[in-house]
Amino acid sequence: PHIYIPGDSGALALGAGKVAKAIEKELAERGIEAKIVRNGSRGAYFLEPMVEVACDTGRIAYGPVKPSDVKSLFDSGFLSGGHHKCWLGNPDEIPFLAKQTRLTFARCGITDPLSLDSYKKHGGLRGLEKAVAVTPAEIVTQVTESGLRGRGGAGFPTGIKWKTVLDTAADQKYIVCNADEGDSGTFADRMIMEGDPFVLIEGMAIAGIAVGATKGYIYIRSEYPHAVAAMSKAIGIARKRGVLGATVLGSPNAFDMEVRVGAGAYVCGEETSLLDSLEGKRGQVRAKPPLPAHKGLFGKPTVINNVISLASVPIVMDKGAAYYKNFGMGRSRGTIPIQIAGNVKYGGLFETAFGLTLGEIVDEIGGGTANGRPVKAVQVGGPLGAYFPRTLFDTPFDYEAFAAKDGLIGHAGLVVFDDSADMLKQARFAMEFCGIESCGKCTPCRVGAVRGVETLDRLALNIEPEKQIALVTDLCNTMKFGSLCALGGFTPYPVMSALTHFPEDFKPAPVAEAAE
Ligand code: NAI
Ligand code: SF4
Repeated sequence: PHIYIPGDSGALALGAGKVAKAIEKELAERGIEAKIVRNGSRGAYFLEPMVEVACDTGRIAYGPVKPSDVKSLFDSGFLSGGHHKCWLGNPDEIPFLAKQTRLTFARCGITDPLSLDSYKKHGGLRGLEKAVAVTPAEIVTQVTESGLRGRGGAGFPTGIKWKTVLDTAADQKYIVCNADEGDSGTFADRMIMEGDPFVLIEGMAIAGIAVGATKGYIYIRSEYPHAVAAMSKAIGIARKRGVLGATVLGSPNAFDMEVRVGAGAYVCGEETSLLDSLEGKRGQVRAKPPLPAHKGLFGKPTVINNVISLASVPIVMDKGAAYYKNFGMGRSRGTIPIQIAGNVKYGGLFETAFGLTLGEIVDEIGGGTANGRPVKAVQVGGPLGAYFPRTLFDTPFDYEAFAAKDGLIGHAGLVVFDDSADMLKQARFAMEFCGIESCGKCTPCRVGAVRGVETLDRLALNIEPEKQIALVTDLCNTMKFGSLCALGGFTPYPVMSALTHFPEDFKPAPVAEAAE
């Protein structure tokens, strides 16, 4: 039998490594021969460590499994799907998973991440095979027509970005994958790199062929050692098997790539400081124009895309633009891996077509808070995203719908807060975070963030509160319109949304009545 135990860092953090050891020991003691596959996670983290067994009837899942459960699992005949208190049945029928539309994450948690054969058996490389058979312009047209937009947060149309690079003549072009996933509550990039690394390699190779770039870099944050290891190994395998190299899949196209590791700065997720960091400099934001598409890495035309944007390209090429475009709403086409985190009952990754409402995601899929207290706010889009109150829970998950309510979906991370959250403290935290992470290049962010913390501190002490609120509002306006990049420019979102939607938290605490 085959036993699947996730080697994904989320599952490892929940004890999957210890469970694997206990299962190995039990197999040895009982003299049973079985193959253990360290797969990725399916993303239902509330069930991790989730162990699966491939039986005659298909896969049966058990979770969350503790090392102390392992003996009784074997006693209950778990190798043939026997019942046990951790029994979950067919993983595809677990409601959290069954309700999803898995296009980008189709293989994640199912295949052996480092087996190219397993990848191919589950539909891998079909997109790249199609890409090498058509012209670069046809690839770009397919990606444009699919409606795919940048999943890093800005939502810029991927096909248009690629066309800019395709149309810019140069002796060398580059593909850079932004895997500096720094948003709070996000883990989609990490999950795919650890759980299905070949899909990212395939997407980058397609991008390279589409724009005429022969070299790619994946810039992974240093906090992701497992992703660095998985991607590096997968690149080695892909090179050996002719997926990468001088003749991609036997075609005349050359494309190769390597992993580079960041050094822990949030701002290096901003594309131009990421390029500086890749070039070996201190990561500082460059003024745009020139766009990276014209003058990017080492001054050459560069496609810089987020992990999920690139990992979504193989399915677009394989199934066609119309198939992908058919999912979603408005100008937000295809699927989006929503990452549900914070104080929530069913935390994890939920890939679905755009269009579910925030309330459906938080209350129905996420199951409300983990501790049962009422949900007070949800921060959508990372530390620079807005706090949405329950009154905005009818907002559909769509780039434009969120923007219309002064929010952003960003990299699609959700952090849920219960009614004990103090929104003044959260607003202060946003300013403090901006001050710490600022690259220092422009004044509104470098100085504004520090003044913002001071102003909110005075407000907390009830020193001339009306004056402080006016000051912080004015400051946010300056930061929003005067900052060079999204770090300073978007910090006003959490601050102003907290102030607008939760004004009661910005009022001084009532002074206790003097005892009579
Ligand atoms: P942006 O709107 O300036 O640019 C979006 C992308 O489109 C860039 O790659 C830009 O170079 C490209 N572009 C724009 N016009 C183009 C053209 N005519 N041709 C070709 N390419 C063109 O946004 P920016 O500053 O890159 O990103 C801001 C977003 O980043 C925010 O929405 C935020 O949600 C997100 N973000 C994501 C984080 C994460 O962890 N994934 C962390 C922090 C912020
Ligand atoms: Fe640097 Fe902040 Fe200005 Fe961005 S907004 S360029 S991080 S100082």
